[in-house]
Amino acid sequence: MGSLQLFLRAAQRRWGKMKRRFRRAPILQQALALPEPHIRPASVRDLIERDLPLVFTPRSPVREIRFLQGRDDLIEDIRGALVHLGSAIVIYGERGVGKTSLAQLASEKLCRELPSLQGITPIYYSVSESDTYQHILGAILPRLGVEKIVTKVQTTSTSGEKSRVNLYVAELEDKSHTETTTAAKPLVEPLLSPQVVVDHLHGKRGVIILDDYERITDQETRHFFPELIKKISDNRLAVTLIVVGIGDSTHDLISVHPSIERNLTAIHVPRLTDEQIRQIAVNGFAALRLRYEPEAVEQIVRYSANFPFYTHRLCEGIVRAYVAQARNNQRHDWTIRASDVPAAIREAVRNSPPSLTEAYEQIKTSERALQVAYIVASAREEPLTRARIQEYLTAWVGEDKDIDHTLKKLVDQGMLQRPETGQYCFCNPLQRAYVILRFRADTPAEQLARIDAALGRVTQSA
Ligand SMILES: Nc1ncnc2c1ncn2[C@@H]1O[C@H](COP(=O)(O)OP(=O)(O)OP(=O)(O)O)[C@@H](O)[C@H]1O
Ligand SMILES: [Mg+2]
Repeated sequence: MGSLQLFLRAAQRRWGKMKRRFRRAPILQQALALPEPHIRPASVRDLIERDLPLVFTPRSPVREIRFLQGRDDLIEDIRGALVHLGSAIVIYGERGVGKTSLAQLASEKLCRELPSLQGITPIYYSVSESDTYQHILGAILPRLGVEKIVTKVQTTSTSGEKSRVNLYVAELEDKSHTETTTAAKPLVEPLLSPQVVVDHLHGKRGVIILDDYERITDQETRHFFPELIKKISDNRLAVTLIVVGIGDSTHDLISVHPSIERNLTAIHVPRLTDEQIRQIAVNGFAALRLRYEPEAVEQIVRYSANFPFYTHRLCEGIVRAYVAQARNNQRHDWTIRASDVPAAIREAVRNSPPSLTEAYEQIKTSERALQVAYIVASAREEPLTRARIQEYLTAWVGEDKDIDHTLKKLVDQGMLQRPETGQYCFCNPLQRAYVILRFRADTPAEQLARIDAALGRVTQSA
């Protein structure tokens, strides 16, 4: 063989090797801090740790739009609304489904892209239970350049018996006790009407996100914002209010005047599909330059129960565990394996919100209740009919047990609800995901395999 041929073969082999190396992860639009693979493994490990909080975010809304999966259509709907003067948007959906992530990232993106919104930074306000429109507008209006109707208040505590809070800045007459001023909060003037607010908003441009709107308990405030939306619409102001919160419909969240319904865009945020959940894991691992076994991703999809919170939590736990093992020189393969998932499930269970764990402890006291809850949680159909629950249970325990008493108990405990007669689903969808995770974490592998096989036969027979 001539030396030229030998040279060409060697060059081909090298090229093939390089191609395989770079096929590992798709190139991202925007470079992360992570370097290309030729750098020393110890630094890769450090950089994975550094980028992890940006890529997997179980404790916060998604931080960058490239990590927001499956919401392109909804972003376009929001774009369609934002181009119209005086429009308002209501973003609603189940707890934990991704409403805040969508509202924040879509409005940031559209403020960058739409000529009419250029230069605007969206104003974000998360409502607390004790908030009234005075608190909310007091925080928002100064950011729109409206100061006139906003008054600063001091939160003052005294060393005497009485403690006084939220006093308007005024001469404090009684000087005989020690006062500690802890903060100065803005409030709008009391008895302010929506019309006065609108008068001050003329000529202003802005996008306001009012998140966790369902938490408003003050009745006056509940009436104030629909009225403000109507006035903004009537006056065709360049200020858009985006109301975000938990609800099955717009009316569930906010009752607006029928005359402005055509100026209001309702955006329902659905659960992510299995494929979109898969993309969170796949893109996240790729961004961290990690490979993965497909079975590891499939397990993450199954345990997430279509809620991105658990996807982020599981993936974060898996990557952290990998980094810890790499630090101890136990791992060098930069590959997430299916065998990494069970430990992450146990960790996710340990770090779940107390309300979820407490409710689980309550049902766990009855074996039958736990079985029924797991069946309703893990079945693909939702809601599940009574007959179907019975079918699954019979396949599981091998005999036909009465379930009416158990179902009633689970409904009374607030775990399940009955959307229609004879149909059951979880009241809190996050609880559903937790029941799957926790049950699987607590059950020995062999027993779990038997249960999976029994329930799987019923699913296939459908
Ligand atoms: N489209 C998405 N793609 C990837 N991750 C997402 C997506 N939407 C939400 N998440 C993740 O899911 C979790 C919940 O998101 P988010 O806080 O936006 O939900 P929410 O509906 O506002 O929750 P809540 O009802 O508690 O206010 C977070 O960990 C977030 O990072
Ligand atoms: Mg939210």
